[in-house]
Amino acid sequence: MDYDLTIENDLIEVFPADSGDITVDAARYSLLAGGKRLRPKMMYMTYQMLTGEDDVSCDVRYFATTLEMIHTYSLIHDDLPCMDNDDLRRGKPTCHKKYGEGVATLAGDLLLNTAMERLFRIILDKPEYAYACYKMASLAGGSGMIGGQSIDISSEGKKISLEKLYELQRKKTGALIETAIVTPYYLINKVDMNDPASDTVLDKLIRFAGHLGLAFQIRDDILDVDSDPATLGKSTGKDERDNKSTFVTLLGYDEAKVKLDNEIEMANQILDELAASGFKVDSYREMTEYLRKRKN
Ligand code: IPE
Ligand code: IPE
Ligand code: MG
Ligand code: MG
Ligand code: MG
Repeated sequence: MDYDLTIENDLIEVFPADSGDITVDAARYSLLAGGKRLRPKMMYMTYQMLTGEDDVSCDVRYFATTLEMIHTYSLIHDDLPCMDNDDLRRGKPTCHKKYGEGVATLAGDLLLNTAMERLFRIILDKPEYAYACYKMASLAGGSGMIGGQSIDISSEGKKISLEKLYELQRKKTGALIETAIVTPYYLINKVDMNDPASDTVLDKLIRFAGHLGLAFQIRDDILDVDSDPATLGKSTGKDERDNKSTFVTLLGYDEAKVKLDNEIEMANQILDELAASGFKVDSYREMTEYLRKRKN
């Protein structure tokens, strides 16, 4: 199975082309604007690791599409003038630059709401997925991504503690990465609300996701400093401009790189443990190295 192609084909199906509704057009524009699709890919990779199968199930594809919709909504809103005020995203004009702020706000809302509709829809057919749906909604919410974004904007211009910075990064980026990495486990094992975390494999996946999420965001902070818009597909130098609290602005560039290496190292240790238990971790080994060095 070609993961990239499958992910793109599934995303194309979400909203119709030429819908006649500008908000749908704007949501489709941002959803199909490119992007690395790392979260869907991670979902596929966990499925492959846990089952040994290369072809992912329809249900995993459905959840992967839903997660990419939530991620895309978070980017549309993150770029708005009232948040990070960015003009460039995925190498293209941001949603509000192309469609205006009102429509971009609605396009973000539409992506999020449609994602929630999809989660409810699948529970109607498969009630055993209720916990996976609940976790995805909750990790995208106030104790996850939205909570992290809230700390992010309220920390602008302030020097926050390292502890607070960890919380910020864990929530704003780590939460959706945790959903990406752990959801296939919930789907395969039909995990329910009463006994969600009694398993050592699940525990390892959650810890692995924590390290990968932090590594991902530290690299994002580093790229904001040492990359350029043509390579990155988004503007650079924004964190300093906006007095953001990041690992680079708080600790400095070199120390941030050390932290990134530490997080990758810890993620790799968990992969060693999973490999010792017989899981095929090759794709994730490539992923951790990629996250250390990625250029966009
Ligand atoms: C960007 O995420 C936003 C952050 C969480 C730092 P990605 O770097 O995954 O963005 P796309 O999806 O590839 O555009
Ligand atoms: C945004 O973090 C994370 C989200 C939840 C959208 P950033 O503001 O650092 O992301 P970029 O650098 O604009 O992609
Ligand atoms: Mg931001
Ligand atoms: Mg931003
Ligand atoms: Mg950033």
